Amino acid sequence: MALVGIVAGGVGSRMGGGMPKQFLDLCGEPVIIHTIRRFAMHEDISDIIVGINPDWHDYMKELADKYFDGGIHLTNGGNDRNGTITNIIKYAEEILGAGEDEILITHDAVRPFVNRKMIDDSIAAMEYCEICTAALPATDTIVLSTDAKTVSDFPLRENMFRVQTPQTFRLGSFMKMLDSVSPKERKKITDACKLFYMNGRKVYIIEGAETNIKLTYPSDFETAEVFMRHNA
Ligand code: CTP
Repeated sequence: MALVGIVAGGVGSRMGGGMPKQFLDLCGEPVIIHTIRRFAMHEDISDIIVGINPDWHDYMKELADKYFDGGIHLTNGGNDRNGTITNIIKYAEEILGAGEDEILITHDAVRPFVNRKMIDDSIAAMEYCEICTAALPATDTIVLSTDAKTVSDFPLRENMFRVQTPQTFRLGSFMKMLDSVSPKERKKITDACKLFYMNGRKVYIIEGAETNIKLTYPSDFETAEVFMRHNA
C-alpha cells in the first residue's frame, strides 16, 4: 500500500485566470479532481493528502466532499514544492500515524493524465531504490544556455530526459535528506529528486508518458481536452 501526496500549493502565475490552474475546468470537472481520481481508483492507495494554499482550503474541501467518499485529506501548501511535500509528510505522520517506511507517491495536481502503469511502477521501484521519478527521453535537442541568448553547451540528446511526476520515496528518507542540507541550500532545491541527488543518492527513472503533461499555459488545456476525449 502507498500514500499519495498531491502537490497543489501553487498559484499558477503562468496560466493566469481568476483561480489557481488546478481548479480550472477540464471537460466538466476541475483539473485536480481528474488527478485525484486516477489515484483514488487504484487499490494499492490507502490515503490521498492534498497540500493546498490556505486561501483555497475551504474550496478544496467542498470539492473533495462533492466528488469523493472520504480518504482525501487536506493540509497547507508550503513556500515551494518541497515545502508542500514536507507539510504532507508531517500530516501523514502526525494525523494519519504513518511510519517512516511508508511509501509516498508525490504528484503534481496539474498532471491529470497519470496512468495506472506509472503508479504500479512507482510502487514496485521502492523494492530497489530510495527515490524514483517518471521521465521520458527528450525528443527535441536540448541545449544549455546560461543567459537565454546564446548556447553554452550541446548535451547529447540520447542522454537527455524530461522529468515528470510521480516522484516516489519513503516518508522518513525525504525528511532525512531535508535535514542534511542547510536552510540556504534548501531554498535552492525545490524538487524532491534534486534533494536526494544532492545528498549523493541515486535517482531512478520509471517510464512517464507523452500524455502526462503539466498544465502550464492556457494552450495546454486544448491539448488536455483532446487527450480526455481519447481517454488518455
Ligand atoms: N506547487 C506546490 N507548492 C508550491 C508551488 C508549487 O505544491 N509552493 C505545486 C503546484 O500547485 C503544481 C506543481 O507544484 O501542482 C508544479 O508546479 P508549477 O506547475 O510550477 O505550478 P505553479 O507554481 O502553480 O505555477 P507557476 O509556476 O506558473 O506559478
